Amino acid sequence: MTIRNLDDLLAEGVSGRRVLVRADLNVPLDKQTGAITDDGRIRAVLPTLTALTGAGAKVVVFSHLGRPKGAPDPQFSLRPVAARLGELLGAQVRFAEDTVGESARSTVGALADGEVALLENLRFNKGETSKDEAERGAFADQLAALGEAYVDDAFGAVHRKHASVFDVPARLPHVAGRLVLREVEVLAKLTGEPERPYVVVLGGSKVSDKLAVIEALLPKVDRLLIGGGMCFTFLKAQGHEVGTSLLEEEMVETCRNLLERADGKILLPVDVVAADAFAPDAAHDTVRADAIPSHRLGLDIGPETVAGFAAALADAKTIFWNGPMGVFEMAAFANGTRGVAEAITKAGAFSVVGGGDSAAAVRALRLDETDFNHISTGGGASLEYLEGKTLPGIAALED
Ligand code: 3PG
Ligand code: MG
Repeated sequence: MTIRNLDDLLAEGVSGRRVLVRADLNVPLDKQTGAITDDGRIRAVLPTLTALTGAGAKVVVFSHLGRPKGAPDPQFSLRPVAARLGELLGAQVRFAEDTVGESARSTVGALADGEVALLENLRFNKGETSKDEAERGAFADQLAALGEAYVDDAFGAVHRKHASVFDVPARLPHVAGRLVLREVEVLAKLTGEPERPYVVVLGGSKVSDKLAVIEALLPKVDRLLIGGGMCFTFLKAQGHEVGTSLLEEEMVETCRNLLERADGKILLPVDVVAADAFAPDAAHDTVRADAIPSHRLGLDIGPETVAGFAAALADAKTIFWNGPMGVFEMAAFANGTRGVAEAITKAGAFSVVGGGDSAAAVRALRLDETDFNHISTGGGASLEYLEGKTLPGIAALED
């Protein structure tokens, strides 16, 4: 199986050709103002776009944003993303007000060589995410008709069997873009023979989301450090009361079973920052992980845990980190995430950050992105890759 990449397409010559680029421009927006709060995913796709425009292609970019229900929904419009993309490219980006309709056709038709158009949100169309092959295929036909070649640079969406990810490449010559290529190269190092000790840090809110990856990683890692909202279900499985902390009651037994099989590889918090409420100014204290008051909820890992995690990371040669350790958006509960992030950068290991939230945390906490070897643009996608699952968007690129 081979996957051709952007250089192969460029070598064929793209001048004057309409090239479709599936990007993942699903960026976080401020709930009040609608402003883009982190443009990392837009910046990540620039190398592919500038390579194509520099070679004279007519570049047609498409993406999803959020989870609209198959019909236009203004709060999920990509229009603000088109503006930001234009700023970053230093060039006009033509915006189409639909995805495969009249606006899309005329916008694409008006493109001069070296110009870029962005189509409206793919998920405003039912066909994009449909489970029905025919419905998805009909939409893919319309998308494919807009271009002559297809580039997948939407790493964050390669785990989705959606029309723009899975069905369009079946209809056009297809290659992996620069971002997808780099993401896959890096993650392949982790699934191959990672240099040891190999330490994985997992956070985020739900055990149920991470269960498959925990199962897949346990035999491969030397240590697995667990923080974030999901740690409370594990603490409960250890027999501790967790107050009003996030808890997946139905997962407690599963966690107990994992801990039994983990052979001491799983490290859990020994102290947590427990607060009266989920609020930036809530009264809070550091308490022992086995003594969380019944009326309080844990919103961060405590300083002793940070020190313990840092010690467990210090001699690592390979590190993968997914998921914040606490509610880093609130200053009072950001120390755990900051402390662990700093410990990762100090370890001198090959370090990979996976997941929209952890990547956003790195930037929001003003840590130096270049201190990590790779910051993945994919959350679910990087986890499913590490689980060893077949990713529809990658499989579709294989010849
Ligand atoms: C993400 O943000 O994880 C990707 O853009 C995929 O989005 P989805 O989970 O809504 O498919
Ligand atoms: Mg997601």
